[in-house]
Amino acid sequence: MVTSCKGGVGKTTLTAGISTALAKMGKTVLTVDMDFGVRSLDLALGFENNICADAYDAITERCELDKTYISSPDCPNLFFTPAPAGFDNRTMDSILKEQINKYLSALKEKFDYIFLDMPAGFGKMFELVASSPVTDKAVIICSHSPSSVRAAEKTAFELYKFGKTPLGLVINMFNIPFVKKGYYPGILDIIERSSVKLMGVVPDDTVIDSIQQRGGLINCEELHSRGNTAIKNIARRINGENVSLMQSIVKTSKRSQLL
Ligand SMILES: Nc1ncnc2c1ncn2[C@@H]1O[C@H](COP(=O)(O)OP(=O)(O)OP(=O)(O)O)[C@@H](O)[C@H]1O
Ligand SMILES: [Mg+2]
Repeated sequence: MVTSCKGGVGKTTLTAGISTALAKMGKTVLTVDMDFGVRSLDLALGFENNICADAYDAITERCELDKTYISSPDCPNLFFTPAPAGFDNRTMDSILKEQINKYLSALKEKFDYIFLDMPAGFGKMFELVASSPVTDKAVIICSHSPSSVRAAEKTAFELYKFGKTPLGLVINMFNIPFVKKGYYPGILDIIERSSVKLMGVVPDDTVIDSIQQRGGLINCEELHSRGNTAIKNIARRINGENVSLMQSIVKTSKRSQLL
């Protein structure tokens, strides 16, 4: 699960980017939009006009599992299940833990990686997914401000309550000039403040923002942006590679300024 109690920190953007990168590395990856309130992963991935059953249909077994995801024409290893459109939030209470467990267990047999793009906050969906024994890893996303890092701590605390140890913390929209000027905490500061292992730093990058808005993350392979490189580095780490924190993002000689 890709989660954070804070909204707008980049959960959807990074879910799209990391899953695309892993799929391009040859892994079979499913991304599921679990944000039933405001779905947006379809936009980020460019699946907006492709139609298939949605995650609610899948969880409640209203159609066959294989019909609840579609693959990307641009990246055949990448599969996607949208959140329902116009979902009535009151229906959320009818979703049972057993249904979530069964759904996720069935998916696990089919894919190398499954990414669940979670809504902000600790609502019913967070509870269902975090409490599921099938969910084995949680990545917490936060932006660079001290309040956002604190929100990440709170998210980790909620995950611990469900017996989940977060896989790691990703600092998104890392503002390099602000660190240099001393406005925002540097990397060491964040590591010291947070009880969650830092697993990635993604720079604030207008290229990422603009291609996300155009549903172009799937084709961003060609784009040489620092944000894109950072996202690929995280995918490589998730896949077991040893990649240093700012590799190919900041010159080695300048890295000490970010600490
Ligand atoms: N590294 C980045 N650099 C610049 N802009 C970014 C970066 N990551 C995300 N953004 C932008 O930040 C905005 C919020 O991102 P996103 O929708 O992924 O957040 P979210 O956590 O999923 O939000 P929500 O809580 O509403 O689901 C988007 O406009 C996105 O393009
Ligand atoms: Mg989102």
